[in-house]
Amino acid sequence: MLSHLSLSILLLNLLLVSAQTYQRLGACPTLGCVFPPDQTDFLVGQLFDIRLEVHAPVNGTEATGNTTPNETFTLCIQKGKGNCVEAKKYFNLKSEPAVEKWNFTYYEDLFAKDEGKLTGVNVAAKAYRAPGKYQAKLSYNGGAKTVANWEVREPAKKRKAKNVLFFIGDGMTQPMITAARLIGHKSINGKYQTLMQLDQMEALGLQMTHSIDSFITDSANSATALYTGKKSTVNALNVWVDSSSDVFDDPKVETIAELFRRKTGGPVGIVSTAYIADATPAALCAHTRDRGQSASVVYEFLYNATSLDPRFDWPTSCKGPDVIFGGGAEQFIAGSGSHQGKDFYKEFQSQGYQVVYDNTQLKKVDTSKKTLGIFTTGNLAKWVDRNVLTENLKGQSNHPTGDKTDAVDQPGLKDMTLKAIDVLQARSKGKGWFMMSEAASIDKMMHALDYDRALGELLELDDTVRASIKHLEEIGELDDTLIVVTADHGHGFDVFGGADTKYLAAQTEDRKKRAAVGVYAESGLSGYQVAPGSSPTNQSVVFGAQGPNFPVQWNPRYAYAAGFGASPDRREDYIINEKGPRTPATKGSDGGYVANPSEHTVGYSVSGTLPTDQSQGVHSLQDVPVYAKGPGAEAFRGVFNSVDIFFKIADALALGKPSKRH
Ligand SMILES: *[C@@H]1O[C@H](CO)[C@@H](O)[C@H](O)[C@H]1NC(C)=O
Ligand SMILES: *[C@@H]1O[C@H](CO)[C@@H](O)[C@H](O)[C@H]1NC(C)=O
Ligand SMILES: *[C@@H]1O[C@H](CO)[C@@H](O)[C@H](O)[C@H]1NC(C)=O
Ligand SMILES: *[C@@H]1O[C@H](CO)[C@@H](O)[C@H](O)[C@H]1NC(C)=O
Ligand SMILES: *[C@@H]1O[C@H](CO)[C@@H](O)[C@H](O)[C@H]1NC(C)=O
Repeated sequence: MLSHLSLSILLLNLLLVSAQTYQRLGACPTLGCVFPPDQTDFLVGQLFDIRLEVHAPVNGTEATGNTTPNETFTLCIQKGKGNCVEAKKYFNLKSEPAVEKWNFTYYEDLFAKDEGKLTGVNVAAKAYRAPGKYQAKLSYNGGAKTVANWEVREPAKKRKAKNVLFFIGDGMTQPMITAARLIGHKSINGKYQTLMQLDQMEALGLQMTHSIDSFITDSANSATALYTGKKSTVNALNVWVDSSSDVFDDPKVETIAELFRRKTGGPVGIVSTAYIADATPAALCAHTRDRGQSASVVYEFLYNATSLDPRFDWPTSCKGPDVIFGGGAEQFIAGSGSHQGKDFYKEFQSQGYQVVYDNTQLKKVDTSKKTLGIFTTGNLAKWVDRNVLTENLKGQSNHPTGDKTDAVDQPGLKDMTLKAIDVLQARSKGKGWFMMSEAASIDKMMHALDYDRALGELLELDDTVRASIKHLEEIGELDDTLIVVTADHGHGFDVFGGADTKYLAAQTEDRKKRAAVGVYAESGLSGYQVAPGSSPTNQSVVFGAQGPNFPVQWNPRYAYAAGFGASPDRREDYIINEKGPRTPATKGSDGGYVANPSEHTVGYSVSGTLPTDQSQGVHSLQDVPVYAKGPGAEAFRGVFNSVDIFFKIADALALGKPSKRH
């Protein structure tokens, strides 16, 4: 049986505009806004705030002549066929929240922007902060009101999985997985001799990634969907975006990591190849509508939202994840990048963490302790640079201690994930654990149109999943661990043929260079598994230093030819960038981006499809794959929404079950 909760806010709903490029406020098409908005689903017991706003546009197409919002508005909540109960009574509050007032301006469309014609809106608002647990039933539909139907989903009663290992290949799509297989695995006469680990999982599904108010998502918004079961807005971490300018006052919602902690007391791990305050790792614990608040994100990992902003009572937190491994030393080294300029390595140490800075130290950690591993400033080096083009690790001045030396001993996703399993396992004391491990630079390198590095990151993710399965089996936890591998959004990448890079470089005219691209029959065979100088019959080098499961060489004469659906102007020669990640476009004379004149100079030029203020490729609409293995894996088959992943994981862990401990 499904149960519903419905709520109505008593105000007139005047005009229904369907704003597109620019919106007055996402998920609020009327002048009365309720967050959580209509169609929100909850897990029983999941904590959340409520925000109400009444808008009075001063001018523009929605103006009514009344520029002062009526401050007398009420919220009532209706369960089943009963009366609509006043929120104050329903949530047992001492008094109604105070009315807050502010105003904002926005452009209604691109014409208005060109003409500099702003529309102003005056706002009256109220917030019910963390109103607590609720058990709500059935739905209601009001007349000229803003009605939000919230569904409280029937939770699983029995816990199926003890541990959850949740992998996110940021930006990863099926065409990328197919391309990674092509370069990382040998095929003879059309038959692969080995397979990706992803090819061998138990369940395959597809998830829809769109936002609450736009059909293309970013990683903050999509991580919010995956971890809370709630759609939100681009750049938002675990909040619904209100119209106030304060980036911390937006109504919050509890994440899977907070729930897991609160309900089971088990340890939580966060691993990423990005800087650790980046959106995908941040979204496990942080609550802000602006993913750029990196220092606050690190503060919130360690402490909580209430102590970050004491105006709001947010009674749940990650309570200091047991494992945090990634990059982003800027937010830890005392200085301009850290919260209040403090030394956050010391802050973590003061809360009982051991801190490690390189792979050698990582190998030796005391698994009984909470562990912070920060291995570089910024994002971790890419697999290709750590393993093949290692000269690129030099001259970076990126050591995580801030001593300006090079971080040459960085771990990879596999090193970090396997060690994180050991720490979580040692600290779980039978309670089970939850870990998110992110291959962040699939996305980062796809943005840079550096397909080779992106596929290297994807092969590293696959290798990490494979090694994790083996390790879990060795420690006797495999049968109790649900492993889910998915992405948060796509990029419009695919392979369309082969390229004779030698012929391409030898031509002087762009139209002639394009003749190097072989389509259909001329696409030929993958050159990535043929080591330089080896014969096709001598297999000994094929699984040499970089194999198995990785290419034997990264710059074969016969390369794959790939394209991108949304990019700036660029040049393509299908040769790996040997000096480090690509910068496909640079500022041109008109201030907009043009193809970078100093890279891929032997290539031919490709016209961009994006506005000229975009320097990189952007995310795309496509559904992304979901792979699962272990207890609860069968729930991940089929086509579903990104928010369903939260409920499927929560169900495997029975997090919706009333808990005895709280
Ligand atoms: C404001 O709303 C309340 C409740 O709906 C109504 O009684 C009152 O007349 C309204 N005030 C104005 C100035 O419209
Ligand atoms: C918007 O708010 C500011 C600050 O509260 C105030 O000074 C200003 O007059 C307001 N603007 C309008 C158009 O009401
Ligand atoms: C509409 O009002 C806002 C502020 O209230 C103001 O900034 C803006 O210039 C106004 N727009 C026009 C077209 O007058
Ligand atoms: C939040 O963190 C502060 C500072 O460490 C602590 O005093 C407080 O108890 C914490 N509150 C919650 C709800 O965890
Ligand atoms: C195969 O190639 C490797 C590496 O180039 C070489 O050492 C080995 O002798 C070769 N084996 C045969 C049978 O040719």
